[in-house]
Amino acid sequence: MAQPGSSKIVVLGLGGTIAGTAARAGDNIGYSAAQVGVEQLLEAVQTLPVVLAGRALVTEQVAQVDSKDMSFAVWQDLALRCAHWLSDAAVQGIVITHGTDTLEETAWFLQTVLQPDKPVVLTCAMRPATALTPDGPQNILDAIAVALDPGAQGVVAVCAGVVHSARDVQKDHPYRLDAFTSGDAGPLGYVEENTVRWVKNDRKEAIPSMKWSLDAIKNIVSTTPWPRVEIVMNYAGASGAMVDLLVRDGVQGLVAACTGNGSLHQDLETALMRAQAAGVKVLRATRCAQGRVLPKVGDTLPDSNGLSPVKARVALVLALRAGQSAGTA
Ligand code: SIN
Repeated sequence: MAQPGSSKIVVLGLGGTIAGTAARAGDNIGYSAAQVGVEQLLEAVQTLPVVLAGRALVTEQVAQVDSKDMSFAVWQDLALRCAHWLSDAAVQGIVITHGTDTLEETAWFLQTVLQPDKPVVLTCAMRPATALTPDGPQNILDAIAVALDPGAQGVVAVCAGVVHSARDVQKDHPYRLDAFTSGDAGPLGYVEENTVRWVKNDRKEAIPSMKWSLDAIKNIVSTTPWPRVEIVMNYAGASGAMVDLLVRDGVQGLVAACTGNGSLHQDLETALMRAQAAGVKVLRATRCAQGRVLPKVGDTLPDSNGLSPVKARVALVLALRAGQSAGTA
């Protein structure tokens, strides 16, 4: 939460459609993401001084990527810059301008490694900066309103006036401006005319088993390759062939995007159990857009504790990375 005397908001630019440009102003889909610098993006938000109410704004371009190309290297840089700014007592919160495509993965990565008390707010846009009516400026304004709100803490995402938790946020539409959902968990709140209306009281996202110190974050910036974790999906006619190939290729972790409540085609399940017996870490998540895999007696493959397949992959990568640092993986 904001500390007394906090007087700065930091905006970190990462790229995405929010920083995208098209050759034609009316083109909302044929554009190049990650073209406009974060400082220029903020210049387009004319009412920013009203929301900032005298607080200083610091901007930093951490990367300029289309988030479909998100990499561990960018995540490392981002985590370090966030840790740096969070440790500055004058900083009230951080806003990150990000692409929508992998925003939910970055949110979960940052929440896990930073577990910040102060707000770290990811925002984005579905239309490029050159659109006739771009959604980026309003999303930035809303994100800053959230970062300044005394009730905000931890990593959250803000898009189309809705505040989502890092755990629940999920892109569920490829075109609509309101492209994110919190699924059946529901959003944390809404931003209305620069004011946040929280609809959930319990907004602290605890990840008890893993708190990374700044030193640990520095450790992840090592030359050791990141653990290889892949996602395999269950579907009609699935087989174990992909799993066997991946194991032969040295995969260290596998997330199964299962059908329903963690069910798997028997051939895929057998291959995953073989992989697990060979030392590969396996997690089961559900490919259903809502809900979670509910553990039951007799499960032989662990479930993802409610995380979606892509977030379970982030969790597995970090768990294996922590094991690498500790010399146990
Ligand atoms: C991206 O994810 O960087 C491009 C797509 C988007 O931001 O909507």
